[in-house]
Amino acid sequence: MEYENRQNDDIVRMVNIEKWFGRVYALRGVDFHLKRGETVGLLGDNGAGKSTLIKILSGYHVADKGDIYFDGKKVVIRSPRDARRLGIETVYQEQALAPNLSISRNIFMGREPVKGFGIMDKKLMDEESMQALQNLGLRLRSPDLPVVTLSGGERQGVAIARAIHFKAKCVILDEPTVALSVKEVNEVLEFIREIQREGISSIFITHNLYHVYEIAERFVVMARGKKMTDVLKEDVTLDDLSELVIKSALVE
Ligand SMILES: Nc1ncnc2c1ncn2[C@@H]1O[C@H](COP(=O)(O)OP(=O)(O)OP(=O)(O)O)[C@@H](O)[C@H]1O
Ligand SMILES: [Mg+2]
Repeated sequence: MEYENRQNDDIVRMVNIEKWFGRVYALRGVDFHLKRGETVGLLGDNGAGKSTLIKILSGYHVADKGDIYFDGKKVVIRSPRDARRLGIETVYQEQALAPNLSISRNIFMGREPVKGFGIMDKKLMDEESMQALQNLGLRLRSPDLPVVTLSGGERQGVAIARAIHFKAKCVILDEPTVALSVKEVNEVLEFIREIQREGISSIFITHNLYHVYEIAERFVVMARGKKMTDVLKEDVTLDDLSELVIKSALVE
């Protein structure tokens, strides 16, 4: 199947991305694209290069080779701040939030509104934070609670509320359901559906095919630093997908 020509509706287009970590050739010329409003499941065995690829998009790593186009323009992403400025938000299990800061500080991190004399407008931040969380169906007791006191699912909710509040164009979810209870997983999947309803594109990395099959519209399978498969959900069953992931890891 060939998707590479539908360039115009792409929000993200990564072309021939290569990355070395010392002697480890982590990405070997990967092409990856994401359409506007689309959710792609990024799959593959441990060490396949999934996180490395999305960390290049979110500015945590810089590629050794290759180009990135965002919203139709060639871009240079050298830091997470560059990525955020473009509208790329990342939701990781741990890294995305500052655990000891409050919910509202986390939602506004780096984008705090100010009153006169450069003082942060805490009242505005608190009100908007609670509203953003409520829009996701999350009712938390107070915007002042440190994030460390929240459950895993609630933390993902805070990160996703932030992405929606600041109108992200692309949300990257790197294993957002790992180490969560069944109830929390369902909450997080519901948050991702809200991202979809907002028309925001997303990349969902997970080892759990049940979770991703429910949510994503297309699946990209990686193995040993290469893209092995790029397939629409309508063309595969869950069993097919599982087989594709297992087989791709075995091919030499
Ligand atoms: N910061 C780093 N320094 C050195 N090597 C790294 C670094 N990050 C990743 N690698 C290596 O690059 C390769 C790809 O790793 P990556 O984390 O992208 O895989 P992954 O597909 O996300 O795997 P997992 O499913 O286990 O999260 C692996 O061989 C890994 O050991
Ligand atoms: Mg990873």
